[in-house]
Amino acid sequence: MATAPSDRLIIFDTTLRDGEQSPGASMTRDEKIRIARQLERLKVDVIEAGFAASSQGDFEAIKAIAGLIKDSTVCSLSRANDRDISRAAEALAPAARKRIHTFIATSPLHMEKKLRMTPDQVFEQAKQAVRFARQFTDDVEFSPEDGSRSDIDFLCRVLEAVINEGATTINFADTVGYGVPELYGNMLKTLRERIPNSDKAVWSVHCHNDLGMAVANSLAGVKIGGARQVECTINGLGERAGNTALEEIVMAVRTRKDYFNLDVGVDTAQIVPTSKLVAQITGFAVQPNKSVVGANAFAHASGIHQDGVLKARDTYEIMRAEDVGWTANKIVLGKLSGRNAFKQRLDELGIALESEAEINAAFTRFKELADRKAEIFDEDIMALVSDEQHSHDNEYFRFVSLSQHSETGERPQASVVFSMGGAEMTCEAQGNGPVDATVNAIESKAQSGAELLLFSVNAITTGTQSQGEVTMRLAKAGRIVNGIGADPDIVVASAKAYLSALNKLYSKVEKLNPQL
Ligand code: KIV
Ligand code: ZN
Repeated sequence: MATAPSDRLIIFDTTLRDGEQSPGASMTRDEKIRIARQLERLKVDVIEAGFAASSQGDFEAIKAIAGLIKDSTVCSLSRANDRDISRAAEALAPAARKRIHTFIATSPLHMEKKLRMTPDQVFEQAKQAVRFARQFTDDVEFSPEDGSRSDIDFLCRVLEAVINEGATTINFADTVGYGVPELYGNMLKTLRERIPNSDKAVWSVHCHNDLGMAVANSLAGVKIGGARQVECTINGLGERAGNTALEEIVMAVRTRKDYFNLDVGVDTAQIVPTSKLVAQITGFAVQPNKSVVGANAFAHASGIHQDGVLKARDTYEIMRAEDVGWTANKIVLGKLSGRNAFKQRLDELGIALESEAEINAAFTRFKELADRKAEIFDEDIMALVSDEQHSHDNEYFRFVSLSQHSETGERPQASVVFSMGGAEMTCEAQGNGPVDATVNAIESKAQSGAELLLFSVNAITTGTQSQGEVTMRLAKAGRIVNGIGADPDIVVASAKAYLSALNKLYSKVEKLNPQL
């Protein structure tokens, strides 16, 4: 039987915008640029680089990304008002291909309680926003926020009108993760059937994972509803329970091509490197049993499975680890590697440091690490560059050195030297363990009073000589930040992570959340 030609599924990545809205996941301009470059290597179709009107930092990050990225469309979110849209247009000006994504809530609850607007006012504002955005680009996306809890008649009215105004993508948002696959897919199908000009726009799905159904809802939106764009984030990063995970969508559509009959342009071999980069920059570690990108996703521990895989791989494997970018940890550099080899490896990893001074600083760190650790892996290089970038960003606090003593039956003791606004501090404290003692020592001088929400340690590579990567999540006065530190000594990594979190806590970056 002949099969119908397959359609293209557009992959719209919003790691840098919706993903970044996750408390503690906020990124600096340089971190966003690193991720954007990697998303381009991954070959996503659209990169939503941020929300230009939310802060000066986001505006600048979008502008820089717009100037650098050539192969993906660069997009900025904007609320449905002229100021936000103008800001998005300004930030996107350098882009080879740009998209303005404007949205307004359409559910009765959001319109009445959040916006305090009547449906007619929302209708007019949505139309006006799309019309205004079209002055800057012919690629305009419109999202009815909380779409899945909106009245279908009202949605039809708004969406038909915004398509008439020139919206080229309509993104059906399940903002609070309320949808269930069949209902969400059917609601989208009804919209497309009832709206007379629905064929003039690409239909998109945007799902949140509050009930663990974001990927299932998105795929139902594609299969039942006919969506041809999926909005998603790397590792499913995002506020609350996160967004639709890009890697799961791409691999579901690829692996079950027999069912979906769709093509995606993503280079799947870049999935794991991208996942690792995002986890490392944000400090949101990937759970080991996470589909596709979890450390155990391809590990066969049970004897029966191992036996089966050895005899014929497809007995228990539906995807090949190497197709999504899993490679055995390879020693890439060592103590004798020179600056050129280091620089070449940075290039191969897609890490573009801006100046010779930055390359030199990273190379010095590499040499220091190579003195302490015989084998240097790609993951070590990535952590080292992140560390270097963190220390540039608002480095009011800077780690200098540490010594600690712990012995069975004794209370651990730590002595830490760090600089605070240029002045060197030496402090000592005891604690329940060496990390607790270290944090107590730092706090005895820094006196931040911040609440520690999360402390996690991850081995960057395999083996006990691996570097430990520590995440410390701190909260103070309503702000939540993640600090990350890496070192072969996990107590040192913890001190670095704590100081990096303090730097972020005291930086002035204030961001507006689009949903507020
Ligand atoms: O979840 C949501 O509704 C959004 C919109 C801004 C598209 O992120
Ligand atoms: Zn969202």
